[in-house]
Amino acid sequence: MELIFKTEEKQEAEVLFLPVLKDNLAIIKLISSFDFRDEQNILLRLKKENFQGNKGDWFVVHNDKQTIVFIGTGQAKKLSAEDFRTTAGYMVAYLRKHHTKKIGLLIKYWLKGTNDLDVLAQALAEGLYLAAYSFDRYKKIDKEAIKFDVKEIFVYLDSLLSGQKAKFIKGWDLGRSLAQGTILARDLVNEPAGVMTPKFLAEIAKNIAKKSKNISVKIFDKEKIAQLKMNAYLSIAQGSPEEPKFIHLIYKPAGKIRDRVALVGKGVTFDSGGLNIKPWEGMVDMKIDMAGAATVLGVFDILAQSDVKVEVHGIIAACENMPSGTAVKPGDVVKNMQGKSIEVAHTDAEGRVTLADSLAYAQKQGIKKIVDIATLTGAAIVALGSQYAGFFSNSDKLAERILKESKNVGENMWLLPLALEYKNMNKSKVADIRNVSEIKGGGAIMAAWFLNYFISEGTDWAHIDIAGPAYAEKEMNSYTPVGGVGFGVRTLFNWLKNI
Ligand code: BES
Ligand code: MN
Ligand code: ZN
Repeated sequence: MELIFKTEEKQEAEVLFLPVLKDNLAIIKLISSFDFRDEQNILLRLKKENFQGNKGDWFVVHNDKQTIVFIGTGQAKKLSAEDFRTTAGYMVAYLRKHHTKKIGLLIKYWLKGTNDLDVLAQALAEGLYLAAYSFDRYKKIDKEAIKFDVKEIFVYLDSLLSGQKAKFIKGWDLGRSLAQGTILARDLVNEPAGVMTPKFLAEIAKNIAKKSKNISVKIFDKEKIAQLKMNAYLSIAQGSPEEPKFIHLIYKPAGKIRDRVALVGKGVTFDSGGLNIKPWEGMVDMKIDMAGAATVLGVFDILAQSDVKVEVHGIIAACENMPSGTAVKPGDVVKNMQGKSIEVAHTDAEGRVTLADSLAYAQKQGIKKIVDIATLTGAAIVALGSQYAGFFSNSDKLAERILKESKNVGENMWLLPLALEYKNMNKSKVADIRNVSEIKGGGAIMAAWFLNYFISEGTDWAHIDIAGPAYAEKEMNSYTPVGGVGFGVRTLFNWLKNI
């Protein structure tokens, strides 16, 4: 999609898009302002089709050479970045039904002087690229289907002076790279586990590191992992013939570093449950159990072309959780690299056991600010459904910062309590801690407390349980189709950018 800037609309675009609020009078006024030759007919049709400007509805007017699509944006008084993204998603929905290569945006109708041009441009780019995504690598091509195939976007500005164009481009480029990082994460989540192995994830990490001189990567194999005494992680990997790969990405910007942080992603490339095997309904989508890792890789993909001033460590303990004669057995006791012993009472609570070592490793790097992101518990889905991630933190300040970014980008996260009442519920009779609680209920909180056991005093830590929103069973919104969501990429990147 190439941007072409103009100050005056001269019918270069085949389709012009205009957002309209749910306001009948304003819509009629707007249509009149265009001086359509058959205005009366159009207004009659407007009434017959009962177009109100509801979110996602559109009303189409064909001119001599051009089509104008009025897109409803609902009742908002002022359009937010999320409204812009959503509206861009509706544009893509329209363009999947109509062959068009050149579209136009009359910016004065989009902004109404109330929002920043770069905010608009960024949100439009995110919405357009994300909505246009589909994972069809394994499908035969439907020759009849209309493809979203926009080549040129005509951007009509009031003037090209005062840096307007530069501002638009800056926002657009950021939005596009945020979308690209998210799309990488979606691709990784959507890829079946037969391909998406720990080794495959490690290759992706290497490719990202190649893209930037600021990024380096270390990949540890089984022997090295054993040397580092990450035996909790190894115990989960031991049931599979696929070798574990421990991935450590490092982004080091030139110049003065503002902070050092770690992003830790759960990277279970397939979760069968292990010997406590899952029923088929529970297992069928478990290729997604590396979505946290995918998010971390998506963020690094954006970092590769950024000027973020924070040192970032990406940490992924990738493995498969499989049942076999060599698999970890319920009741086994294993130690993580800090020497803390874990009773693996339930082999399907494997993510937290791998994270016990990832979190320990992150702290061993001397990092005092850690965010982990993981498809950790079905209980988080019970609590919040599929549109919200469960968010936990031992630092109110860190929580506030990340939750603010998540709101801005439209990735829903909800603060759940690290309730002191439940702190010691993961008690074990034989080890320092047990990977499941004997107490029923509150599973997402119990899992968060388990992770917290491996966080030392003085480390700020946040935990994002994305079991729900990592994967969209139904379209999540107009720019998030069925499949991997790439959830958290945009929130975490913006958080790093604004540290
Ligand atoms: N990967 C699952 C959690 C999950 C479930 C993610 C559904 C996405 C969708 C995790 O490893 C798991 O199996 N958790 C168990 C924990 C239980 C055994 C304490 C669960 O939630 O049932
Ligand atoms: Mn599991
Ligand atoms: Zn799992």
